[in-house]
Amino acid sequence: GSSLELVNSGKLTTCTHLPYEPFQSRQDNKIVGFDVDLVDLVAKELKVTQEIVDTPFEGIQTGEDLNARKCDVAAAGMTITDVREENLDFSAPYFEATQALLTKKGAAFDSLESLKGKKLGVQQGTTGEEYAKKNGPGVETVQFEDLALLLTAVKTGQVDAAVNDNGVLFEYVRKNADTEVTAEFKTGEQYGVGVRTGNDALRKEIDKVIKAAKSDGRYDAIYKKWFPA
Ligand code: ARG
Repeated sequence: GSSLELVNSGKLTTCTHLPYEPFQSRQDNKIVGFDVDLVDLVAKELKVTQEIVDTPFEGIQTGEDLNARKCDVAAAGMTITDVREENLDFSAPYFEATQALLTKKGAAFDSLESLKGKKLGVQQGTTGEEYAKKNGPGVETVQFEDLALLLTAVKTGQVDAAVNDNGVLFEYVRKNADTEVTAEFKTGEQYGVGVRTGNDALRKEIDKVIKAAKSDGRYDAIYKKWFPA
């Protein structure tokens, strides 16, 4: 069928980088999350099943994985940026985010300014790393490969604070009452699903699904499932 020509092999393969809860994480040996559910709607539309490939964020955000045909799409809570647009194409935006600051509860760091001479954890290759390096002169940034290592470093005191997307940090605070989000930086980011540059057929299919899901309640259902009020 014509729809199968949009993807590699009768499957819709998705590159992502775990863990990034609630967008993607492993629970009971299954990969679940907001992005997983959203891409499942696309797979359903194409009458294929989604297969998820967990791979470092660097190869995702540089477009390397898509170009190497490691996967058909990239769905990793990934912010649409001009630099990334040079190496991959993005679907329409599906989620709004902003950078935020996580500390241990009561630690009194509530701005990059307040972290001068302190250690600030960042996640490698992310917009949060870029934001912190640009806007935190005199702050010592410490790079972590994944979110779990970054957040644990805040708990253990290996770093004084961490910068990452608000959605994942609020999710962490919900489950870790000894931490808190002390600032949101209003970076005005939007997540998009990545496809190989020029794979307009698949990109348009994703856009169609996102649009339909937003108007028929399926998007809201996914939202409520992963961001319970
Ligand atoms: N939104 C941020 C960015 O695009 C962080 C994404 C990290 N995602 C992940 N699955 N590890 O840079």
